Amino acid sequence: MSFKEHREKLYRTLEANTLVIAYAGIPIHTNEDDYFDFAVNSQYFYLTGLERENTAFIAYKSADKTQEVLFIEEPDPHSERWTGKMPTKEEVREISAIEDVRYTDSIEGAISSFMGRFRVERVYFDMYRCRMNDLPDYNLVMAERFAKAYPQAVLKDLHTACVPLREQKDADEVESIRKAVDITRQGLEFVMKNLKPGMMEFEVQADFEYTCRRLGAKRQSFPTIAGSGINGCMMHYGTNHCEVKDGSLILLDLGVKYENYCSDITRTYPANGKFSPRQREFYELVLKANEAVAAAAKPGVTTRDLNDIARKVLGEGLVAMGMIADVSEVGKYYMHGVSHAIGIDVHDISLVGDVLKPGWVISNEPGLYIDEEEIGIRIEDDLLITENGCEVLSKDIIKDPDAIEAFMA
Ligand code: GLY
Ligand code: MN
Ligand code: MN
Repeated sequence: MSFKEHREKLYRTLEANTLVIAYAGIPIHTNEDDYFDFAVNSQYFYLTGLERENTAFIAYKSADKTQEVLFIEEPDPHSERWTGKMPTKEEVREISAIEDVRYTDSIEGAISSFMGRFRVERVYFDMYRCRMNDLPDYNLVMAERFAKAYPQAVLKDLHTACVPLREQKDADEVESIRKAVDITRQGLEFVMKNLKPGMMEFEVQADFEYTCRRLGAKRQSFPTIAGSGINGCMMHYGTNHCEVKDGSLILLDLGVKYENYCSDITRTYPANGKFSPRQREFYELVLKANEAVAAAAKPGVTTRDLNDIARKVLGEGLVAMGMIADVSEVGKYYMHGVSHAIGIDVHDISLVGDVLKPGWVISNEPGLYIDEEEIGIRIEDDLLITENGCEVLSKDIIKDPDAIEAFMA
């Protein structure tokens, strides 16, 4: 993976006299002496390839060159005794291709030096906020601290600067997503082999995650959704604590991270291996929408256009089935968008309304949620936008209802 190329793409978009400061972040405290699993800041990872907590990166672009410095914790035998080997300067140099590696206790001095000795006109920090009342994440805290120390500095948002770069994946990024999708395929095949009525939803989840771990995936892309019956009608159901009843469907929305890149796949299976005629009718309609979206996904269109296609196909099908009187009522049974970008994050960085270009990876996930019949169906593929259309990266994860029944038999 060439993280150096990611940085060079960023530098090409920056004006001279610009400082970039990016932190990996720190683990978030839970209670007592416990912490959540560490999740690295995505902009930092994109630019360095490092997933290690308590590391940081500074770049200064002047008129004629860009100077880069990476900061890591100094390995110490006491910490290593408790939590394992810490990365060395040589190891992070190898991953990031940044030559100048220093220890984190020198970062404030380095920032002061850049601010004092160079004509810094703007400073980039990742200042993204998901929700107004979220606790500020580490980069935002550091940006605020910096602004207090240097009130004259003009702060800019690294997240916004990374949008056009990260929207378009390079060959290495696509390769990681392909691997994540393939691990997901194997996990789902293991699930299909074992699935039977009477299992608990969390057992199905465990079958999937067990296979993924065995295949080398370090973590899920997001908490696995295993919703049977009515639970499949809740878009982000995640408690997975119910029994999978005979005659029900189970909706599995799941994925893994490979080299920190995500897959995001949904398949819906009959618990007993056979769709009822009614379930199959809805399933085939969702599949038709999924195929229509894949046929339309190409450079120049937006995810909004794709959603209009999904709504039209699903709406017309529901009218034909007598479920609704007019296509405009489709929202009664289909309540989410059909597509989002996928990458380092499962809902990856992108802006609503941006047109698709070759190299984008997006989801294709129409669904129908019929509460009154306890039927929740979603079929989600991952698409790579190509020069003339798209490649369905998850084409080997079976979704044809006959193929699913044959496999489960
Ligand atoms: N798994 C979340 C989504 O499909 O968007
Ligand atoms: Mn998705
Ligand atoms: Mn999903």
